Amino acid sequence: MTAIDIGQVRADTPGVNHVNHLLACGSALMPQQVIDALADHHRLEGQIGGYEAHAERLESLEGVYDSVARLVNASPTEIALVENATVGWAHAFYALDFEPGDRILTCEAEYAANYVAYLQRAKRDGIVIDVIPSDEAGAIDLDAMRSMIDTDVKLVSITWIPTNGGLVNPAAEVGAIAKEHGITYLVDACQAAGQTPIDVDELQCDFLSATGRKFLRGPRGTGFLYVRQSHLDAGIEPAIIDHYGADWVADDRYELRPDARRFETWENSYALRAGLGVAVDYALDIGLPAIQDRAWGLADLLRAKIDELPGSTLFDIGHTKCAIVTFTLDGHDPYALAAGLREQKINIGASDPETTRLDTAARQLPALNRAAPHYFTTEDEIDQLVAALAKL
Ligand SMILES: Cc1ncc(COP(=O)(O)O)c(C=O)c1O
Repeated sequence: MTAIDIGQVRADTPGVNHVNHLLACGSALMPQQVIDALADHHRLEGQIGGYEAHAERLESLEGVYDSVARLVNASPTEIALVENATVGWAHAFYALDFEPGDRILTCEAEYAANYVAYLQRAKRDGIVIDVIPSDEAGAIDLDAMRSMIDTDVKLVSITWIPTNGGLVNPAAEVGAIAKEHGITYLVDACQAAGQTPIDVDELQCDFLSATGRKFLRGPRGTGFLYVRQSHLDAGIEPAIIDHYGADWVADDRYELRPDARRFETWENSYALRAGLGVAVDYALDIGLPAIQDRAWGLADLLRAKIDELPGSTLFDIGHTKCAIVTFTLDGHDPYALAAGLREQKINIGASDPETTRLDTAARQLPALNRAAPHYFTTEDEIDQLVAALAKL
């Protein structure tokens, strides 16, 4: 594996000259190449017109599907480009048919956006939501999952890397169990994309959703959905369609597009898409294994240093810990702490307990600070955060 050229990636990242940005789990700093792609497309739209700019850039815009497909080891026909992870996830979830009494299995660290959708379908369709308990490390307990499976389980739907807590759930092992029992498997890879390699065949998932703005370093307002070809071939119907997702072939009939773009609608921001494509290519050029090595190594370093601070508590769990570090400092409100650091040009976040309500309740979590270094972060920037925390 080639080492990352830190000088180069920082030279590519103008934001590092302005802030110490330790919030890749929120929205990472974009490389200049991404910023240029956005600006360039908008400029072209202004110069020659929106439809004309789309036509002129059609080939490279089509290439965005290839890039995202390469990122997750899928075929471009299995990719839908959408506005954010939630839209992608919801398109998959709401396309699934359930009967009253059907069970879905999810995890304790499930994200709020997904869980409220489960609750809606519990109310509307009578599905039963069953939460797989966590093991002693806080990850999905695979034995417990196996023991919960019966013929009523119609979907396994989990968050791979939760929004907080450092946790990396065993998404591939979960997929193997789901596959063994022929159960549909939906993966929320929102926080995974851009910090760890993704291979939909290794995960054995049917659907996978992710966002562009976090560890992928793409623009805000971008996301994607992967849909396994077999579901497309079987005619999976999106919950909503328009004349882009389906052709109006007779007065009383439509035909769905053959590819995953049936989950898209006609109008889109092509500037954002261009930016997403460049961000994905940028990550692929560096290499996801190298990115993971560096980002996770820096997070470990940060954890060790925070641990030494008087009054600090770390809240990260799991057998393997990712680039998201969560902690509190005695006597400091996490929101005020993050706001204070922002004035010093250090960006970290505060995490609302309600974004992972079940995990919060199980672990009795308070509001937390969360920091997420990325591969472009330096050891000096880690030290700068720790020094600022020490002074509080
Ligand atoms: C685990 C997880 N899933 C889904 C989302 C939602 O992503 P988006 O805001 O792109 O819809 C988030 C956002 O923080 C997340 O952390």
